[in-house]
Amino acid sequence: MQLKFGSYPVLVASSAEMAKEFLKSHDQIFATRPPHAADSTAVTVEWVMSELIKHPQLITQATEELDRVIGRERWVEERDIPQLPYLEAIMKETMRKHPVAPLLAPHMAMEDCNVAGYDIRKGTRVFINTWSIGRDPSLWEQPEEFRPESSIHKPTQGINFSFIIYLPTIFQHIDVKGRSFELLPFSAGRRMCPAYNLGLKMIQLSIAYLLQAFNWKLPDNAKGEDLNMEEAPGITAPRKFSLVAVMEPRLPLHLYEI
Ligand code: HEM
Repeated sequence: MQLKFGSYPVLVASSAEMAKEFLKSHDQIFATRPPHAADSTAVTVEWVMSELIKHPQLITQATEELDRVIGRERWVEERDIPQLPYLEAIMKETMRKHPVAPLLAPHMAMEDCNVAGYDIRKGTRVFINTWSIGRDPSLWEQPEEFRPESSIHKPTQGINFSFIIYLPTIFQHIDVKGRSFELLPFSAGRRMCPAYNLGLKMIQLSIAYLLQAFNWKLPDNAKGEDLNMEEAPGITAPRKFSLVAVMEPRLPLHLYEI
């Protein structure tokens, strides 16, 4: 897709292949960008909790995993995170369906170049449309559904993912650190988010604490399916309406003493 916003051309890359062209094959050329600003982790955690409250059976599965791995007599710690694959799958599924930066951050061509047969002028802004890639039916089965047990999602096609070993969930083999071009929450290449490790840890620990510590429901006995899931427009895509939920402790009360 080529758009003209103001005085410079803009490209929107809406497929995993084109994302790879810009962020890997032509990474050096597009390694600069115009100024921008964005926020991130809190937006993802709010979307995670929204999807979970909308699908309470997923909270049951996630808390079963937490109780099995950690028990109910201590709080989750950073070292527990690798033992919580279901929690990781919930995070990745949220990043697929609700990417914080639906168009990533703009990259800008530092010189004239040719990408996938298209002549691109120096100064062209490129946006990678992760929102569309995450909903691409050739990559994901039933992409509008929220299903962390992503064995229902098709293995990727058209890209060389020979490193994928087929185990029950493919999400364990989809890298969110810039190597799997069908899921690029932190982008890829030399300008990808330098804090992706911090971001991943913050998100997983936050969700783990929120699920371990509290039972969750909507106010006024509203049902999960009633929860509005509209996005607000912008560089980031937060919820249009803040999530309002009722929490109550689910662990022994002495653990909550400060
Ligand atoms: C869920 C958490 C986060 C997500 C999804 C995220 C995503 C992104 C994305 C998509 C970019 C643009 C990459 C590109 O244009 O190719 C970016 C850039 C950046 N992020 Fe993050 N980010 C997250 C958390 C953080 C945190 C916690 C920090 C700092 C503590 C951070 C610092 C930065 C910086 C400094 C850049 C600019 C890098 C550059 O221009 O070279 N990010 N992030």
